[in-house]
Amino acid sequence: MIRMTRLLALTTALVAAPLAAQAESWTLSGKDSALHYGSIKKNTIGEVNTFTGLSGSVDADGKVKVEIDLTSVETYIDIRNERMVEHVFGKDNPTATITAQVDAGALEKLSPGEMSVVDVEGMLTFAGQDVPIETSMAVTRISDKRAMVSTDGMIMLTMAELGLDGGIDKLMELAKLPGITRVAPVTLRLVFDRGGKPVKAAAKAEPKKAETVMAAASGGDAAAGKKVFRKCKACHVVDKEKNKVGPHLVNIVGRASGAVEGFKYSKAMAEADLTWNAETLAGYLANPKKYLPGNKMAFAGLRKEQQITDVIAYLESVAK
Ligand code: HEC
Repeated sequence: MIRMTRLLALTTALVAAPLAAQAESWTLSGKDSALHYGSIKKNTIGEVNTFTGLSGSVDADGKVKVEIDLTSVETYIDIRNERMVEHVFGKDNPTATITAQVDAGALEKLSPGEMSVVDVEGMLTFAGQDVPIETSMAVTRISDKRAMVSTDGMIMLTMAELGLDGGIDKLMELAKLPGITRVAPVTLRLVFDRGGKPVKAAAKAEPKKAETVMAAASGGDAAAGKKVFRKCKACHVVDKEKNKVGPHLVNIVGRASGAVEGFKYSKAMAEADLTWNAETLAGYLANPKKYLPGNKMAFAGLRKEQQITDVIAYLESVAK
C-alpha cells in the first residue's frame, strides 16, 4: 500500500520535488518518461499528443533540468508532426527546457512505496521565452534507486505566452480548421534513476500509436489481408510513395485523409479531415460512397467484415 504523506509547502522559491539527497544526482529515464498535451479543434474534437524525446537530470543541489526534444512530437499524423515542427515550434528551436529547484533532502524521507504530493515552481524555456510554471506533483519512491514524479493535476500552457499564436494560426490555415484551442493542458510523467547515465528516449522510437493498437485489437490477419489487397491494386500501391488512380497508401493507418501531396483528391476527400485508423478505414472500405459522399474512389466496398479487418492488418503490417 502506498502511504500518502502530504508535505507542507516549503519556503518561497522552488519547493520540493524532493529528489537528490545525500549529494546524489538522479538521471531521467527517457524511455519511461512522457509529456502529454491535449488539444481541441473545432470545439468538439479532443486529441492527446505527446513528446517522446525527454532527457534530463536532478543534480546533487536539487537543480532539475528536463529537456524536451520538440522534433519528437507525436500527434499520430505524420504531416501534422511535420507542420508542428516547421510552423509552430520553428526549426530553429529544437528543444524546450524545464528547470526547477527542488528540496534535495526530502526524497530521502520517502521509503520505497511511499508517495507525497508537493508544490513545484519551475520555468519552461522555449524559443527564448521564459514561462513560469506552478503546479503540484506527485512524487513516488518506486524503489531505492528509482523515483517517479508526475503531475498531480494538469499544467495549463497558454499559446500566446509561449509565443506560439502565429504558428497556430498557420496550422489552422493549412489544415483548414476554423479553430484550435489556445490553451493546452499538459501532464508529465518523469522517472528518475539514482546516479546513472542518461538513457535518452530514441525520438520516435516505438510507434505506440493508438491506431496501431486498434488495428491489432481488431483481430485482422495480415496474410489474408494481402490477398484482399488484390482488389485495391489496380488503383493503389502500399510499398512505395507512388500514386496510381488512387493515392499511395504508405503508412495509411494513422495518416490524415487527403494528405498525399501532389495527388488530386476530390473536394470531399480533401476537406474530410479524418484520421485513417481501424474505425474510419472500416467505415470507408465497407461503403466508400456512403461513408464519404462525393469522394471519387470507384470501389463498391468490401462486403465482409473479416476482409476489412484483414486488409487493415495488412496495410498496417507493411507500414514503414
Ligand atoms: C478503381 C480504383 C480504386 C480501387 C479499386 C480502390 N481505390 Fe482507394 N482510392 C481511389 C481513389 C481515386 C481515391 C481518392 C478518393 C478521393 O480523392 O476522393 C482513393 C482513396 C483511398 C483512401 C484514402 C487515401 C487518402 O490519402 O486519404 C484509402 C484509405 C483507400 N483508397 C483505400 C483503398 C483500399 C484498401 C482499397 C481496396 C480494398 C481501395 N482503396 C480500392 C481509387 C481506388
